[in-house]
Amino acid sequence: PFKKLKDGLRSITSSEELKDATEFDVNENESTVSITVVGASGDLAKKKIFPALFALYYEGFLPKHFTVYGYARSKMTDAELRNMVSKTLTCRIDKRENCGEKMEEFLKRCFYHSGQYDTQENFADLDKKLKEREAGRASNRLFYLSIPPNIFIDAVRCASLSASSGNGWTRVIVEKPFGRDSESSAALTKALKQYLGEHQIFRIDHYLGKELVENLSVLRFSNLIFEPLWSRQYIRNVQLIFSEDFGTEGRGGYFDNYGIIRDIMQNHLLQILALFAMETPVSLDAEDIRNEKVKVLRSMRPLQLEDVVVGQYKSHTKGGISYPAYTDDKTVPKDSLTPTFAAAALFIDNARWDGVPFLMKAGKALHNKSAEIRVQFRHVPGNLYNRNFGTDLDRATNELVIRVQPDEAIYLKINNKVPGLGMRLDRSNLNLHYAARYSKEIPDAYERLLLDAIEGERRLFIRSDELDAAWALFTPLLKELEEKKIIPEYYPYGSRGPVGAHYLAARYKVRWG
Ligand code: NDP
Ligand code: BG6
Repeated sequence: PFKKLKDGLRSITSSEELKDATEFDVNENESTVSITVVGASGDLAKKKIFPALFALYYEGFLPKHFTVYGYARSKMTDAELRNMVSKTLTCRIDKRENCGEKMEEFLKRCFYHSGQYDTQENFADLDKKLKEREAGRASNRLFYLSIPPNIFIDAVRCASLSASSGNGWTRVIVEKPFGRDSESSAALTKALKQYLGEHQIFRIDHYLGKELVENLSVLRFSNLIFEPLWSRQYIRNVQLIFSEDFGTEGRGGYFDNYGIIRDIMQNHLLQILALFAMETPVSLDAEDIRNEKVKVLRSMRPLQLEDVVVGQYKSHTKGGISYPAYTDDKTVPKDSLTPTFAAAALFIDNARWDGVPFLMKAGKALHNKSAEIRVQFRHVPGNLYNRNFGTDLDRATNELVIRVQPDEAIYLKINNKVPGLGMRLDRSNLNLHYAARYSKEIPDAYERLLLDAIEGERRLFIRSDELDAAWALFTPLLKELEEKKIIPEYYPYGSRGPVGAHYLAARYKVRWG
């Protein structure tokens, strides 16, 4: 296997794919991990990747021998990279501790190499530098593609041909967007697979690294009380809601080519839905979990235009402050129809979920920032206490809320008696409020995902057949929206979004939570 790996990534056969670098890592002291952040001068690298790497270092999760390399076209010295990175590192992991010393140690392990993304020689120079730092140890290499998607393939080609490890593993984390539709996504996968085996590709969906999304399976499969209720028999509808209280400021150029459906629904919300609705996997093994996710995605009906509402935010003045319209962004065409909001009803045609609406709602420039899963249960048949709720029987049903962010919580709305001599019912929450229950700060999603990629754990990354199934659901709708030039419903910046979302929900007898 050593020789084959040396001969280039294309030569790896499927049986060897199963063997992972852990085989080479027998002695951690004898191996190194080199992490190259491709696009290190960019927003995501500064905001998320370097801080996550520091957090892992601070917590002692990085291997003994590791090096971080920033790679981009911008000219920078190592000192300049360190200076740039230091501005976004925080001691948020342990506020009481002064982590300045650890930061210094971490920054000393960060280096920079300037190069083009499509030039093999530049990556060959990087390879030389990596080798120097690896000092003859077995080398494992992780490349994080934090660059715009149009240069993914060039960077993968150059990295794999000129800078992949000769005696350890080479893995590549790919950031979204993974194409714009089924066709472009398949083309991207095909091109990536010219240079990498599927086992080397780590397609990131950072929502899968969020604490409460990871906790979904624990909640379902390690508590007796939820799983038996987890079906059409007891659940009326499921809502997956994402909202941000800011617009696309600064990212309009990217966003206008994608829109909210591709940016949030087809990936983040659909991934949550798949984890929520999948059958019990055979084991916690990545392949077993991903097999179940694919099954549920393939059981879903492609979205229909009549089950979708799209919106776009317009300018609004509140308290003397004026908030811009989406099209006020200079990088967005004035006549853009790109949705910044969408609501949709999805259905899973299998025995467990037949007829249960899964309602998604995602929007920018809304009144709040939050991401949550709301599970509304059916009415209690023949409820003795119905009269307590008057005509509003919906109020009497149980609801389980998984608040992914902010202020993580899982709470169950139940009915209880108001204490006293009368018989009045109230709604209360059985509440697992993370901040109250756990003093330790919740890690950022990127920390978990980077650590998993380093450890070769693929559970939280998207397999190519999952991606195909996800695009198959959304592509016809996206094409129709574009071909028919569907005009979005305009909503004021900072509002609750288009009223059409309420009509859509009402069609399925659902009230948004
Ligand atoms: P940036 O636009 O900041 O690009 C990253 C780096 O890539 C830049 O610093 C620049 O480096 C280089 N670059 C930019 N445009 C081009 C170009 N046209 N041709 C060649 N090189 C270019 O991207 P982000 O950091 O915002 O995002 C990186 C990736 O992560 C993207 O795929 C994005 O979709 C994804 N992503 C980003 C999120 C975010 O919050 N920013 C969230 C989720 C995903 P240099 O000029 O020095 O070479
Ligand atoms: C990204 C989207 O994937 O997720 C952004 O491209 C969005 O538009 C972001 O703002 C939201 O992530 P989080 O972790 O801040 O909820």
